[in-house]
Amino acid sequence: MCGIIGYLGTHGAVPVLLDGLRRLEYRGYDSAGLAVVDEDDIRVLRAAGKLSNLEEKAWQTPLSGTLGIGHTRWATHGAPTEENAHPQTDASGTVAVVHNGILENYSRLRHKLLEGGTPLGSDTDTELIAQLLGRETGSLGERVLRVLPRLDGQYAVVALSREEPDTLVAFRNGPPLVIGLGEDETLVASDVTALVARTRRVVFLQNGDVAVISRDGLRIVDPHGRPVEREVETLDWDPGRAEKGGYRHFMLKEIHEQPDAIRNTVLSYLNADRSGVALDGLGFEPERLAGVRRIHLVACGTSWHAALVGKFYLEELTRLPVEVDYASEYRYRAPLVGEDTLVIGITQSGETADTLAAMEEAGEAGALLGTICNVRGSSAWRTATARLLTQAGPEIGVASTKAFTTQLVALLLVALGLRANRGLSDHRDTEIVAALQRLPLAMEAVLEIDSGRYRTGVELITAADDSLFLGRGTLYPIALEGALKLKEISYLHAEGYPAGEMKHGPIALIQEGFPVIAVATAIPTRDKLLGNLMEVRSRGAALIAVAEEEAAEVSRLVDLVLPVPPVSPMLQPILAVVPLQLLAYHVAVELGLDVDQPRNLAKSVTVE
Ligand code: M6R
Repeated sequence: MCGIIGYLGTHGAVPVLLDGLRRLEYRGYDSAGLAVVDEDDIRVLRAAGKLSNLEEKAWQTPLSGTLGIGHTRWATHGAPTEENAHPQTDASGTVAVVHNGILENYSRLRHKLLEGGTPLGSDTDTELIAQLLGRETGSLGERVLRVLPRLDGQYAVVALSREEPDTLVAFRNGPPLVIGLGEDETLVASDVTALVARTRRVVFLQNGDVAVISRDGLRIVDPHGRPVEREVETLDWDPGRAEKGGYRHFMLKEIHEQPDAIRNTVLSYLNADRSGVALDGLGFEPERLAGVRRIHLVACGTSWHAALVGKFYLEELTRLPVEVDYASEYRYRAPLVGEDTLVIGITQSGETADTLAAMEEAGEAGALLGTICNVRGSSAWRTATARLLTQAGPEIGVASTKAFTTQLVALLLVALGLRANRGLSDHRDTEIVAALQRLPLAMEAVLEIDSGRYRTGVELITAADDSLFLGRGTLYPIALEGALKLKEISYLHAEGYPAGEMKHGPIALIQEGFPVIAVATAIPTRDKLLGNLMEVRSRGAALIAVAEEEAAEVSRLVDLVLPVPPVSPMLQPILAVVPLQLLAYHVAVELGLDVDQPRNLAKSVTVE
């Protein structure tokens, strides 16, 4: 979703802002802009469409100044035009702001400003913040404190004023903001990806914080102006991991990073002799868990698919009942949650608005709050008391890949950890832990398969308008995930279904050449899946299956096998998703689409 970067330092602001915006592109956007204070005046450049349009303008209109703000906008209020792009300024041109989030009292504020004679130049809620700040008096920090009570909704805002060429003010309620403390420079951004190339010393702002960044240092106050202390943290992210590293797309690079990401995640949570899981110190302590009688998993999108697999892991290994909810539904359905419930928010970014709200709702009801998250220090990370970090590193491609497989690994580790806490461990645990350590090798074998193997699959899928992905048991969520990957980056319609449901409706879709992609590795219900496949085959479906190469009963039946090495049933979902990620990738490349930044999508969905 929208991206923010602010800079106060000794270098020219424009190149730093453009570099930051480039690094934020992955979040998804449809226009971009920047503002700098140049000779006591605010100079604004904005452009609809890709960042290259803004870069072109910056090239044609060179701006100097060492203080500036930049933004990539994902349209909410108003079309993605140049007028609606950020930064937005007030009518007198005194203040400029960039904003992530949504003002819920937009209509009322807009009406009042228009009634009071303030001319508005855009359809955005962001401009209203600039106008309100412009009508106040005093320092920028004082203006912000006076305007804050009038803002309802979610916002992360960075403001500058032509009257204070040495100050940025950043404030948040909802979407994240992080401040980077560099050598003779301070940055502020919506996520650390935009900062790590310049500094790793960061301060995460919390809701209600107002940060005044000046050449004298950083001062943070609460909404009443009272000073608050925030810890300076040092990030362990390697900036190189947020580059493409020779791959054509971030998505392809991230697919190939999965063996290492899994290795790192597994090794981070094993005991010293690597025979079992050690979750000590992560907030999953026995005394906290003693009263837990049920588990709720809340998540969105791909992370929700991980939760569906997690239900199998957790129920089988801990014998506790598990419910899985879309976070956007959970928060409004009055769930039966209390002190006996462990609620785990699963989220790559740690900033998904619905997942955070669901976690907060559960926290208020007294649940033990956990998170499986890929960003240390994110909002989910701070909200939870029990926390497991997926060691996937920065995920830039909008279509989630390595975050998903590490979430599955993390869920299995949590299930094993809880099982040990409940005194249920036996020889099976040791076998699963050993198999997990071998899994990266099996995944490397999948990644080594020649891309030509996907050719037939690409042809079958692109020849049709729709396709169905089928699976059973733990492989049904993988069918959902395969269909989501295809939809997201190829814009072709696809649905995931439990294979046993075909006869209850979807089989009506099948006709000559209709692509059906089956996740058909060796779980106990594979024979039943094969029966379902015969039914669609006899009606003309074109069949692609993810299966073990040696599974003759599968290869006899289908047009194309995307092979995976044999692994134990529990690990099959983690492996079987990889050929589906690659299939979606090759389809999107064949169609010439923007793999890493698909239309309309945002990497981090920070509004409801
Ligand atoms: O950061 P999160 O895991 O909370 O994000 C949840 C979804 O927005 C995300 O998984 C989305 O579905 C991806 N685009 C999937 O590829």
